[in-house]
Amino acid sequence: MVCVPLSLADKTAIRRALLDWYDASARTLAWRAPPGSNTQPDPYRVWLSEVMLQQTTTPHATPYFLSFTQRWPTVGDLAAVADADLMAAWAGLGYYARARNLLACARAVARDHGGVFPDTEAGLLALPGVGAYTAAAVAAIAFDRPANVVDGNVERVMSRLFAVETPVPTAKPELKVLAGTLVVEDRPGDWAQALMDLGATICRPRSPSCLLCPISRRCAGYATGQPERYPVKTPKAARPHRLGTAYVLRDGQGRVALVQRPDKGLLGGMLGLPTTDWSAAPEDAPPVEAAWRDTGAIEHVFTHFSLTLSVQAADGAGDFIWTPEAEALKALPTVFRKALQKSSPNGGGGPRRGGGG
Ligand code: ADE
Repeated sequence: MVCVPLSLADKTAIRRALLDWYDASARTLAWRAPPGSNTQPDPYRVWLSEVMLQQTTTPHATPYFLSFTQRWPTVGDLAAVADADLMAAWAGLGYYARARNLLACARAVARDHGGVFPDTEAGLLALPGVGAYTAAAVAAIAFDRPANVVDGNVERVMSRLFAVETPVPTAKPELKVLAGTLVVEDRPGDWAQALMDLGATICRPRSPSCLLCPISRRCAGYATGQPERYPVKTPKAARPHRLGTAYVLRDGQGRVALVQRPDKGLLGGMLGLPTTDWSAAPEDAPPVEAAWRDTGAIEHVFTHFSLTLSVQAADGAGDFIWTPEAEALKALPTVFRKALQKSSPNGGGGPRRGGGG
């Protein structure tokens, strides 16, 4: 593990500073019991909010949370909902698999636990559709259990606080261990939410507001002068470069020869110009014999490779999808539109016929 260890005194100071900050600056959220209010939040509301928040942001989740809890104030009410009604209410919140899990969990709590959520991390984890994160979050926030609650925000905070040089995602288990070293019996629910709030409002991914951060004095990432470098990312593999040739065949009546690309593979099933394969050393393979002339080349960048496509043009005939050129320019994927424009006598910079000089 390549990171800067913290002394017990540092950990105590970090905990105190962050909890003090949370007491003063906690976000007001519909499902949240304010810090220090001594009211135990309703586990149903905590669980529901955590499932929604795995799917979306707090501003987007809030109206859904309010409408769900108004329509179904208890887990028993939610358990009794018809599947189709829940799916309709979930629309706009993302994957329906989560809504199905939500219902399965509500029904298990109603049926097997008398409508009362288990109050331990292990008990919560045994519920259908409840994963490690949700079990830890509900155990900490609803029941003040010292559970280690680690989401993406908390991972980022830990990676900076400890200046973790291991790149993500490899670092994930390490970040979880480090987060665990700061969890204690005192106020675990507020601690979990304080870390979440810090990650969401101050220790943001791109431009962290370290000058406002209550724990920057003890943050190893801040001490490096480049806190935004954390979490360290695995360098992306360089994009390979490929070559190819596109053939623009015209029929002399304003139409251009197109083909339908194979269903599978890049731009599958779409219209395209006839081309060679795209590789390091493509074979020249004109679709018909004709007086092909070179009109230049275009560059295009796909997600997994970049491409230099030479563009050859000719007049001719053959078995193609003959398409008016203006229509082709609208229908073709960008790489072919660029090639067609390149080949155009007065279009994208190809050699001009009759041009002076
Ligand atoms: N993100 C996920 N759970 C949250 C919570 N309980 N409070 C604030 N942000 C969150």
